[in-house]
Amino acid sequence: MSIPKNRPPSDTRRPGHYFDPAPAVPSRPRTVFLHLRGLDLELQADRGVFGSRGVDLGTRSLLGEAPAPPTAGEILDLGSGYGPIAITLARRSPEARVWAVDVNERALELTRANARAAGTANVTAALPDEVPDEIRFAAIYSNPPVRVGKAPLHALLLRWLPRLEPGGNAYLVVQRNLGSDSLAGWLAAQGYGVRRVKSKKGYRILAVRALQPPASPAS
Ligand SMILES: C[S@@+](CC[C@H](N)C(=O)[O-])C[C@H]1O[C@@H](n2cnc3c(N)ncnc32)[C@H](O)[C@@H]1O
Repeated sequence: MSIPKNRPPSDTRRPGHYFDPAPAVPSRPRTVFLHLRGLDLELQADRGVFGSRGVDLGTRSLLGEAPAPPTAGEILDLGSGYGPIAITLARRSPEARVWAVDVNERALELTRANARAAGTANVTAALPDEVPDEIRFAAIYSNPPVRVGKAPLHALLLRWLPRLEPGGNAYLVVQRNLGSDSLAGWLAAQGYGVRRVKSKKGYRILAVRALQPPASPAS
């Protein structure tokens, strides 16, 4: 079938995105594998969900290089996809509760099924608005949806980073050629401490934490 070179302006068709709430592309489940030190997972992926052909290299780098999750408390996987990060964190910290948050319903269904299959009952998959407002996170891990665009990405980070507990870190993996360094600069300008944990195969792993509020002046 030939693809028309110029679509009329009224033609709003566009290829689907992995961050669509309900992917239009038909489902075609596929098994993918994640092998990390001390962990072997078999996960169900699908079309219309990020990493459908295999666990992303950035995600593997994050899970291989970021510090271990806190042993207890609430942990957030921001943009969980089919759950490789959330399920790994839940296995590593069985006493913690891991929130797997995504806007893509197909991704959340896969995360639930994958968490069941992996025996990680401490994963809760939820839409962003389903996470109770009072929950604070001991840590956040994320391969964030850079492709949503700069403004929505910034809004997303400004929604969730303030929910870190004092002293808590967010670990973000971002491809260097998708703007990791400018994102680090923007986060610093927002008042966050940003440290590069690792630079590997074109990915940067950033540790982000709220800086202590300035000490009040002596009276
Ligand atoms: C780069 S993918 C990472 C997926 C998964 N964590 C992985 O490592 O394979 C980013 C994810 O963020 C999700 N996302 C996009 N916008 C979001 C939002 N506003 N809130 C939460 N998740 C969002 C996308 O649907 C996508 O699943």
